[in-house]
Amino acid sequence: MKKSSAVATPPFLSLFLLLLLPLLAQPSDDLIDKICKATPFCDLCEASLRPLTPSPSDPKSLASAMATVVLGNMTDTLGYIKSLIRLSHDPAAERALAQCAELYRPVVKFNIPQAIEAMRRGEFGFAAYVLGDAEKQTDSCQKGINNSGADDDSSLALTARNKAVRNLCDVAISVIKSLMNGR
Ligand SMILES: *[C@@H]1O[C@H](CO)[C@@H](O)[C@H](O)[C@H]1NC(C)=O
Ligand SMILES: *[C@@H]1O[C@H](CO)[C@@H](O)[C@H](O)[C@H]1NC(C)=O
Repeated sequence: MKKSSAVATPPFLSLFLLLLLPLLAQPSDDLIDKICKATPFCDLCEASLRPLTPSPSDPKSLASAMATVVLGNMTDTLGYIKSLIRLSHDPAAERALAQCAELYRPVVKFNIPQAIEAMRRGEFGFAAYVLGDAEKQTDSCQKGINNSGADDDSSLALTARNKAVRNLCDVAISVIKSLMNGR
């Protein structure tokens, strides 16, 4: 008697667990919410962290995921800059683009990967510093583009990308600071 009821239970149990699963996943969603609300660009933060699978479920993996998003975005932008250099016919614009590539390259190849590695060892202050520096390099790139006087579609597109990188850096720094403050 007892045995047959035990055999009958599992389907109900698994249905119960299936219904419970979204509830169990909730805390990580709330964490993303809570941390993103403390950043200067909440929507951008949500848009960067929500689609990730597996969903980062603790502050440390959120910070590291956000830095990885910055890295992906800057890598993509460096590729875009290189493609513009190949197409450019204007020497002033080309110089500005070449300078941008020089500014982006070490950040993408060394600095941010190092920052992500450092976060694994708990060196969050260093990671925040590196992302602040990445933002400065992006600004220097943008200054050069502004001064080159180029205002064609591709310079405008690069300006938009630089701004996106800048905002992503702000978000990442803010997420790291939340983590450091134990929030
Ligand atoms: C970079 O960030 C911008 C703004 O969020 C976004 O539109 C773009 O798709 C991102 N690119 C990559 C490669 O992550
Ligand atoms: C570049 O120019 C735009 C508008 O023309 C301005 O909003 C932005 O602050 C400038 N950026 C830098 C880094 O000088």
